[in-house]
Amino acid sequence: MKKGKKLIVANWKMNPGTAAEARALFLATRRAASEARRVSVTVCPPFPFLSLFSRLSNGVISLGSQDAFWRNGGPHTGEVSPEMLKDIGVTISMVGHSERRARWETDDIVSRKAQAVVREGLSVLVCIGERARDENGDFFGVLREQIKATFSKVQRRFLSDVVIAYEPLWAIGKNWRDSASPSVVRETAIFIRKVMADMFGDEGVTVPILYGGSVGPENAGALLRDGDIAGFLIGHESLDAEAFAWIIRIANDA
Ligand code: PGA
Repeated sequence: MKKGKKLIVANWKMNPGTAAEARALFLATRRAASEARRVSVTVCPPFPFLSLFSRLSNGVISLGSQDAFWRNGGPHTGEVSPEMLKDIGVTISMVGHSERRARWETDDIVSRKAQAVVREGLSVLVCIGERARDENGDFFGVLREQIKATFSKVQRRFLSDVVIAYEPLWAIGKNWRDSASPSVVRETAIFIRKVMADMFGDEGVTVPILYGGSVGPENAGALLRDGDIAGFLIGHESLDAEAFAWIIRIANDA
């Protein structure tokens, strides 16, 4: 993940169902990425496909994981360590996606995972976002507490390896019309930077912020122009090779 470029991250979630489909999607995405010099494209496939893609990424696509455990080695059935991920060519691990937080992951767990990932020498994509918005703006307080708790265990010296994905739950998995507007994204990005500055000083402000939640070719341009963000974390539209290629081209021209 090269900073300074627009960052476009594909979150395939638990898709597609077979290695053959995953390979086809990856190759189509790689083709689109190879034509976009001003964009850094990362694909986060399900764990079983990661080593398949470490041979196929050719320096054009960065490999990301959708999660990582908070330590290396030990009696942790079913978990995958940062060390293993690094060994197969992963360069960034996502932690704290809301679909995982909704089931069992606390801010504390997410924070431990984030620190373990950066300590291993990988970058970390830390997902944050409020469940709902209220007219009084109380959600800002919720977001502040979530950010503080989620970064409580992350050491300042690793901040240059951190990227934040702002993903409000109310905007995930919908139509682009129900996505957050550029002005909402911009206002929230400013707020997130302020909280990061309170925690980490000037360095906190340099952490790139991505937006995620129903981004498609229809709203990508406006969000990049007016949203004050470094790029996107893209779910369902990253499973449509054509739509995703279109988003990459929009980001390249932005
Ligand atoms: P979506 O998902 O693009 O399908 O809304 C984004 C995400 O959950 O990462």
